[in-house]
Amino acid sequence: MNALALPFAISAATRRASAAPRELAFYQNPYAFYSALHAAGASSFFWEDYGHWCLAGFKEVNALFRDKRFGREILHVMTREELGWPEPKPHLAAFAQTERYSLLNLEPPDHTRLRTLVNRAFVSRNVEQLRPRIAALANELIDGFEQEGEVELLKAFAAPIPAIIIAEMIGVPRDMAMQLVAWSNTMVQMYMFGVTEAAEHEANAASAGFMDYLRGLIAERRRQPREDLLTHMLTADPIDGQKLTEDEVVSTAILLLNAGHEATVHTTGNAVKTILESGLDPKTLFATPEQTAATVEECLRFDAPLHMFTRYALQDVELEGGISVRKGEVIGLMLGAANRDPLRFTHADTFDPMRSDGANVSFGAGIHFCIGAPLARIELQESLSALFRRLPGLRLAAPPRYNNVFHFHGLERLDVAW
Ligand code: HEM
Repeated sequence: MNALALPFAISAATRRASAAPRELAFYQNPYAFYSALHAAGASSFFWEDYGHWCLAGFKEVNALFRDKRFGREILHVMTREELGWPEPKPHLAAFAQTERYSLLNLEPPDHTRLRTLVNRAFVSRNVEQLRPRIAALANELIDGFEQEGEVELLKAFAAPIPAIIIAEMIGVPRDMAMQLVAWSNTMVQMYMFGVTEAAEHEANAASAGFMDYLRGLIAERRRQPREDLLTHMLTADPIDGQKLTEDEVVSTAILLLNAGHEATVHTTGNAVKTILESGLDPKTLFATPEQTAATVEECLRFDAPLHMFTRYALQDVELEGGISVRKGEVIGLMLGAANRDPLRFTHADTFDPMRSDGANVSFGAGIHFCIGAPLARIELQESLSALFRRLPGLRLAAPPRYNNVFHFHGLERLDVAW
């Protein structure tokens, strides 16, 4: 192990690493760890603190996302007893209920049935129609704070855009958007490393409140259908002879509402920070629609909002590099590290919106590939280009700090001035 005062230690010989994800120095800059892994040639390594293998190489992460021998769910092929899992915690019943039919927790054929039903609303040609609405919303928000000369950007700009847009798509009234953000933020605590019991209780209460609210809205839509995704989910023709149950509709709506803003908020914050720190001229970065798209892609690569997802081995698997994973074991996919892999990207640690090799794994790959990627890209393109065009003197007003949630790599707040 190396003995420097770093928040991690890596042994290239054994391909084992230790790094405490909740240590300030670590989660403020996980890229130092990733660089050291890449320098040690550790495209896969055993992360002691998590107790499982992780993949850090681009090729490896991308391949595993598509590998059918792995899944996001395991209970369809093994029992809790076989896995040595304790019984579900009663104080997490409501949270578990929201997750039960989440697309992210399903595997085919149930996954295919649910995803097919919502997919159409999110394909590029449909979300492209939202572009003018997104641009108008971004400008409306900037109108609201332009005169002040300074603002906390996450709350005033980054959060409302995706929250309002996904709420409008689903059919949740706009004035509920920030309540959705509050529920979602509380639920997301469940994905923290070493989650506390207090956080579990809060997440459960938020889940119960969220579900109650949606059940009320569903009852309204049954009485009075509208042109929104909630009505569509309730009334869509059956797929494979099955209509969606109310529980499935509730789970799917919660997933879309949560996933629909959480990562986009953080990508916006990370992107503004990256651009301001780079010293590059925003005028050039957003000069044309093509360059805007490339800049957004590079922001997604350079400082991804989601750093680790896991998969279960659905059978015993031998991976390249002599890694044996037994059925039921977990493997970590390090998106933030894969996006900085020097074997895949030239000058991987340099923010370069002019690069042509920017295609990254920030939205995942394979059957769970982010359904909202086309929407998120449009939101980021419109919001960032409007922001830098309207406020050309934009600068950081305080050093930004990342939240203590390693998997969700986003800022606590982003104070800017102009
Ligand atoms: C920059 C913003 C976003 C990022 C970086 C992001 C990233 C991701 C990633 C990495 C996954 C795959 C997780 C896995 O395979 O384990 C995913 C799945 C998903 N995302 Fe996003 N996402 C973003 C925005 C959105 C938006 C705007 C929506 C709104 C609809 C959304 C909805 C979903 C859904 C429903 C899934 C699950 C898909 C499935 O399991 O089939 N995401 N996202």
